[in-house]
Amino acid sequence: MNRKITIAIDGYSSTGKSTIAKAIARRLRYIYVDTGAMYRAVTLFCIQNGLIDPSGQISDRLKSMLPAINIEFRRSNSTDTAETFLNSVNVEKEIRSMETSSHVSAVSAIPEVRKMLVGQQQLMGRHGGIVMDGRDIGTVVFPDAELKIFMTASPEIRALRRFTELQARNENVTLEEVRKNIEERDFSDTHRDTSPLKQAEDALVLDNSSMTPEEQLEWLYEKVMEICE
Ligand code: DC
Repeated sequence: MNRKITIAIDGYSSTGKSTIAKAIARRLRYIYVDTGAMYRAVTLFCIQNGLIDPSGQISDRLKSMLPAINIEFRRSNSTDTAETFLNSVNVEKEIRSMETSSHVSAVSAIPEVRKMLVGQQQLMGRHGGIVMDGRDIGTVVFPDAELKIFMTASPEIRALRRFTELQARNENVTLEEVRKNIEERDFSDTHRDTSPLKQAEDALVLDNSSMTPEEQLEWLYEKVMEICE
């Protein structure tokens, strides 16, 4: 299997995109890019620089400050996963907090932010052999990707998964708060003007409400084999 393809994985929040994306990347020895982490890092930059007013409005000053944002992924030796760095500082934990989550949809709706990050993502994936997950990978970033997956799961299951994840990180949140945040993000991700979340016409749907991570990986691996063999 010499051919290295591009795998685009899109879908709603907390559908387990990154879990399956990481697993398939490891199995195929491809590069994995978590584009949500990039939007989260820009959001954290806004929080750190006072660019979000109390009503949640993002300041226009962000646009002129975009060149000052440098996002990198560096491999952690201890966890053997890529961690997100914002201007050379490891922000892997902060970008997953509820505070960042509650502003990320507003930040990711800004066209200038999307333009910058999409450009960086296209550069990262220009040689193929990449698994990228997000909301617009199969529609905007790599419309010619050989394999496009659209992931979905019931809102209750997604809220429970995210809640468990946040609890494991000692975040003090209720299941109800998580469910509300997921619903709000679903709405703004699918209704924003620039690159809203939508299923690419040629994407395969994976509803993983009642599938284990192993079952999902086998399902996806088979799809890759159909293309590469
Ligand atoms: O995948 P995630 O939940 O970490 O993504 C965080 C937010 O970033 C999500 O609410 C929508 C936005 N996002 C986006 O607009 N486009 C992407 N390609 C990835 C994420």
